[in-house]
Amino acid sequence: MAEVYPVPARVRDGSPNPIVDVDRWREAYHRAEVDPDGFWLDWTRVNLHWHTVPTIACEGDFRTVKDEPIRWFADGEIDVTYNCVDRHAQATPDKVAILWEGDRPGETRRITYDELYEQVCRTANALEALGIKHGERVIIYMGMVPEAAIAMLACARLGAVHSVVFGGFSAESLRDRILDCHAELVITQDEALRGGKAIPLKKITDDAVAQAPCVKKVLVFRRTGTAIDFKAGRDHWWHEEIAKGAITRPAFPVAAEDPLFLLYTSGSTGKPKGIVHTRGGYLTYVAYTHRTVFDLRDDDVFACVADVGWITGHSYIVYGPLCNGTTTLMFESIPTHPDAGRYWDVVQRHKITVFYTAPTALRTLAAAGDEHVTPFDRSTLRVLGTVGEPINPEPWRWYYDVVGAGRCALVDTYWQTETGGIMISAIAPATPTKPGSATYPMPGIAPVLVDHEGRALRGPGDGHLCFSAPWPGIARTVWGEHDRYVGTFFSAYPGYYFTGDGCRRDRDGYYWITGRVDDVMNVSGHRMGTAEFESALVSVEEVAESGVVGFPHPIKGQGVYAYVVLQPGAVIGADFEQVLQAALRQHIGAHARLDLVQIVSGLPKTRSGKIMRRILRKVAEGEVGSLGDTSTLADPHVVDAIVAGRKTL
Ligand code: WT7
Repeated sequence: MAEVYPVPARVRDGSPNPIVDVDRWREAYHRAEVDPDGFWLDWTRVNLHWHTVPTIACEGDFRTVKDEPIRWFADGEIDVTYNCVDRHAQATPDKVAILWEGDRPGETRRITYDELYEQVCRTANALEALGIKHGERVIIYMGMVPEAAIAMLACARLGAVHSVVFGGFSAESLRDRILDCHAELVITQDEALRGGKAIPLKKITDDAVAQAPCVKKVLVFRRTGTAIDFKAGRDHWWHEEIAKGAITRPAFPVAAEDPLFLLYTSGSTGKPKGIVHTRGGYLTYVAYTHRTVFDLRDDDVFACVADVGWITGHSYIVYGPLCNGTTTLMFESIPTHPDAGRYWDVVQRHKITVFYTAPTALRTLAAAGDEHVTPFDRSTLRVLGTVGEPINPEPWRWYYDVVGAGRCALVDTYWQTETGGIMISAIAPATPTKPGSATYPMPGIAPVLVDHEGRALRGPGDGHLCFSAPWPGIARTVWGEHDRYVGTFFSAYPGYYFTGDGCRRDRDGYYWITGRVDDVMNVSGHRMGTAEFESALVSVEEVAESGVVGFPHPIKGQGVYAYVVLQPGAVIGADFEQVLQAALRQHIGAHARLDLVQIVSGLPKTRSGKIMRRILRKVAEGEVGSLGDTSTLADPHVVDAIVAGRKTL
């Protein structure tokens, strides 16, 4: 039996949350189950400002999604930025909206809601002057500066569609994303700073844009002041452009189902997909989950230390917190810069109340030792959160006992880029927790575990995690590829949205995510497709073929294991591994790295030529005793050679 942690009294006491215990959760869950439309319409009407109040909630379902996309609140009109900025600039103008902690400890900026309003309006006016209109796509390729959030909001205010590309991606990845959505404007900065290192974002943008003729303008925010190439007519300085126009701008309500943003994410096959989120449903869902899960209070200082380049940054640094009028932290640095005490130094200096991070960071910090934590005052902390990958019980307990000193609720939040917001999680003041379990689904969320024959399991059991009913935050489509959306999420189990994750439900109805069951890896919380790795590796001249799989890694959660078959007669040097790493850096980005490389004479294949990835995975995981049936292989002997040459960390 896993141990159960009750909710600490100081989290439950004084909670403004309507859900303060498991019975209240059950009531809310039941209400959302029997009347999802009423549940969500009521919530959004009370908590969001609608210029035209919707009368319809959900339209469409998972059986007809091929022909009719899911829609929420479709007869409503909304301005996302009015909700995230204007109404708070009126009600609480002097409250800090964005609290920025720079790469260098103590380098901070505080932007109030009043100032944010002016910045968003100025920037929207500047983007309009640069030719951006309702519905057009804008790429945002920036580091963690407040201007990245301002750029997102400025796009939203114009009804334009932003696509943030994480600053670790290479010029090729950036180019592919620009071309896929046909963006005319790229917003970037001279350099990003991260852990004391400068990343030449403008230079990378230049390389990408050189191969993306659709881009007409590049807007450049000055972060470090380093000298950069400037292309007259195309490139514009952020500070010059925003100084030109008006400091206000009227709200611009648009249809609830207008796209708000695209976010590219890796799947098991092919190129990254441009996941599309729309306005009214997305904002409703992220605001609801942010308020409910973290048990938001008026004076909270909320710190989600993710990057805006990922969905976590969109939903829980920018849109959820700002919609709820929260003070939200933007953190430019990394957890180990200048040392492993950085997070807790930030907590102490900014009096953080809610802290949200990834298991991979916690594993790194736990290994560095408690002496980096205990000197700092963490008494303001009330809720601790994790996201991005399964958290094993050891770092969970370390986070709870050492960081939280046993006084904070710990919420393990399970969700995905495609779900928009948190799906399965403890609700801070309500849910007793078990280390390693994401606990219960949010109200309005209907998880189903299916077995390999596609049958829904009842009660405890292990299966593939699906959801049976739409929620407001679900991605509506893949940009320009609706068939791919349908194929990826709705074809494995007709009538269900399939997550790609395995999951166990215990006797108490608690959910335990066991990890991806498809060819997607989760490395340090970053989602990576094995197919993308393989295609980058075969671009290396000496490589004939490769098979890439994930394997358990003590810090990263999963590491990347590559089996590489050389071209006949190829001669490789001692730096061959660096050559492979360089190919990944070039084709994907700096965050794509191999942990183990094994040169093999052949890959295990069926007689029809299909790589048997199951075998590659088992060998990488060290489970060489349970390879299963290998008799259907074209050449069963390659397996013996692979096992004999297996690499370990
Ligand atoms: C995949 C989604 C959600 C924002 C960050 C990642 C894994 C996410 C958990 C969790 C176990 C988790 C899943 C999921 N995942 N949160 N709490 N416990 N696994 O977003 O890049 O879209 O990745 O991350 O495998 O499918 P993403």
